[in-house]
Amino acid sequence: MTAGDAWWSPWREDAGSLILHVDLRPDRQREARALAILDKDEQARWNRFVHRGARRQYALCRAALRINLCERLGCANRELSFGYLEHGKPFAKVNGAPSSASFNVSHSGRHGLIGFAKLDGLGVDLEVRAPGRDFDGIGERVYGPAERSALSAAAGSAKANLFYRLWSLKEALIKALGTGFSLSPAGFEVPRAMLEGARAAEFRFPHLPSDPFWLEDLGESRFAAASACRVSESTTP
Ligand SMILES: CC(C)(COP(=O)(O)OP(=O)(O)OC[C@H]1O[C@@H](n2cnc3c(N)ncnc32)[C@H](O)[C@@H]1OP(=O)(O)O)[C@@H](O)C(=O)NCCC(=O)NCCS
Repeated sequence: MTAGDAWWSPWREDAGSLILHVDLRPDRQREARALAILDKDEQARWNRFVHRGARRQYALCRAALRINLCERLGCANRELSFGYLEHGKPFAKVNGAPSSASFNVSHSGRHGLIGFAKLDGLGVDLEVRAPGRDFDGIGERVYGPAERSALSAAAGSAKANLFYRLWSLKEALIKALGTGFSLSPAGFEVPRAMLEGARAAEFRFPHLPSDPFWLEDLGESRFAAASACRVSESTTP
């Protein structure tokens, strides 16, 4: 594959971390090329998706992840496989041995993100904003008190933007930790400075006060997005 054929491109780069944007627009040839890069289990998973959009997101993101991980880890595609932590967070293995590569993937609509970091504990999230949802009603269930009151004070497109901004920030944190829905998103709040508009701040989960994460709002006109990355080695056993 030549560089011009790639459906991903560098999107954000910072000391030691890189986030790729993945183009997930429908393209049958591209999806067929991506599918050929996946291993048998991944192809079987691709086959089980009922919705075409979900299949495409999975194949294009997973193949892009494979190609970029192979480059970083200096291995061949056939030597790379994935293991899954308790709540489904994938990690990379080379010839069956866990690697130290820190990465995370998110996809929504026609956009995907793949993040790579120096330290373990990276989460990225991307949400394409959909208008007309019951933002306050959903917020009641997933946001904390300060987040809910900021949401109820906003109106129109500002409410939709705030809803998705908060969602992507909180989900990036949940994905950095790897716990999925087992951690209630209403049980913690984004840093006050970010609620007031700051683009980045340090964050600590209430139940993990000695584990700092660097949280960044990466939202832009096409989508809400965020990354969260542990800033020092985990202190939790
Ligand atoms: C996977 C999960 C963590 C996010 O799911 P999602 O929003 O549907 O999906 P995203 O596109 O952002 O991320 C999916 C990718 O995350 C990765 N992933 C899967 N489980 C994960 C986990 N437990 N932790 C981190 N990453 C995970 C996978 O690479 C997956 O991509 P793949 O299936 O193509 O391999 C979901 O299971 C979950 O529990 N989300 C919490 C949602 C929540 O509470 N949101 C409220 C925010 S206020």
